[in-house]
Parts: sequence; C-alpha cells; structure tokens
Amino acid sequence: MKVMFVCLGNICRSPMAQYIFQSLDVHNKFDVSSSGLSNEEYGNDIYPPAKEILYKNNIKIDNHFAHKITKEEFDESDYIIVLEDYHKDRLITMFGDKKNIIKLTENDIEDPWYTNNFEKVYNEIYEGCKRLYEKIG
Ligand code: 4NP
Repeated sequence: MKVMFVCLGNICRSPMAQYIFQSLDVHNKFDVSSSGLSNEEYGNDIYPPAKEILYKNNIKIDNHFAHKITKEEFDESDYIIVLEDYHKDRLITMFGDKKNIIKLTENDIEDPWYTNNFEKVYNEIYEGCKRLYEKIG
C-alpha cells in the first residue's frame, strides 16, 4: 500500500509526516513518501529546524529530495494525506477528484516555515499519524 503525504513546499510538514508515519509502521506495511504542491524547493533537503525536531524525537530519516507531486504519484497512491484543506482543493484542481484524499487532522496544520512553531507542528503531526495508523494500519 502506498501512502503519499502532501504539503506545499515538501521541506517541512510532509517530510515530517512521512518519517513519523514510517517510524510507526514498524512492520513496513506501507510504502511511504512525500511531495509538495510547488516546485519552489525542488531538490532541497528537509528544512533544518524540521530535521532537528525529528532527530530530537529519535525519528529515523533518509536522504530527502523535495519535489512537486506528479500525476503518476497521484494515480499510484492508495492514500493521499494532506495537511490543509487547501492542499486537497489544489490536488483536485490539478488531477481531478480521488476519494482517498484524507486530511491528517481535523484542523489544518499550520505552516512552520512561516510560523516557526516546529514543536507544536511536530506534536500535531505525530498525533495525526498515530490516529491514521490506527485507522489504516
Ligand atoms: P511546507 O512549508 O509546505 O511545510 O514544506 C513550506 C516550505 C517552503 C515554501 C512553502 C511552504 N515555499 O514557498 O518555498
């Protein structure tokens, strides 16, 4: 089963969610990845403060290469997990509706690239990933 987390830049929230979800998926049931809605940060690594908070919480990470979601990735994903309503709207505009686009938490997860609240965002994403794993895992 393929799970794709999508945010805007693919350097903060979606990679945090990707690696947190992977850490919960101890039996590797899922093929987990992340992408963005924009190519603004193409090729970049995870934003350092986001990386730091993952390290601090013992979340294992791999090499990261930020990129915009492709049509193939969209079509091949069993679950597309977004962090804001806006992300879902954009995906539907770009690729058409797909019933398995799910928002991770009830409320939008703020963009820490702008707000700098990495701790808060980490905790919210962690809780969301735990609930998601309980639901689909
Ligand atoms: P993210 O944060 O969507 O959580 O990865 C952002 C990072 C970079 C940009 C926007 C959002 N940007 O426009 O470059």
